[in-house]
Amino acid sequence: MSEPTPIAAPRRASLTPAAPTHLNADILARARQLIALYPEARSALIPLCHLAQEQDGWLTPEAMVDIAGLVGVTPSEVLGTASFYDMLHTEPVGRHVVAVCTNIACLLAGAAELLEHAEDSLGIGSGGTTSDGAITIEEAECLADCDRAPCVQVNHRYVGAQTPESFDRLVADLRSGARDADIPSHGTLIRVQRTTGIEADPAAVAEERRLAAEARAARDASRTDGGAG
Ligand code: FES
Repeated sequence: MSEPTPIAAPRRASLTPAAPTHLNADILARARQLIALYPEARSALIPLCHLAQEQDGWLTPEAMVDIAGLVGVTPSEVLGTASFYDMLHTEPVGRHVVAVCTNIACLLAGAAELLEHAEDSLGIGSGGTTSDGAITIEEAECLADCDRAPCVQVNHRYVGAQTPESFDRLVADLRSGARDADIPSHGTLIRVQRTTGIEADPAAVAEERRLAAEARAARDASRTDGGAG
């Protein structure tokens, strides 16, 4: 009986990262600080996607190329990761992403009617963006604020239970900028930047990365040896 053919180790594309061309200097500096916190640069992939969204409001193809180069993966891997998460948008969205929860507690409190009103009054379906680029509507699963149903979030900030009437006022306030103080543009998760706290020792990080690379190489070599036998 012949030996089963071992599965070959997956090959990674050879990466020759180009210098970032899209992310601005401030975002790049913050990105490099984040990368320095992790033993493996690719572990910073998702935080960097959020940074890119802070710059552009969504995750543009150009930003994904920059991120890929910064963390040592391919742009396809950035897209493959980002497309898994609701908070990362790989297509343009409005300045305000309004999420209406239609899970059970909110449904019982009128969420379906609220969503229908939102779609009718804005002239867009769920997932759509108004022509002025101000508002994107999303239907959301439970947003963990069930006691204030039907729950609505704008750019991931809770805005309390809404009625059709209060929803119209909310949209007017978002468009006029009246809520800018508490609800920044989509993509900005926080506006206070940490200046103290976790600090990475560059030498320790470099050593951990070296050891991780050695371990990976040893694993790949043992798989290759197994495949040749
Ligand atoms: S069901 Fe709507 S927030 Fe939980």
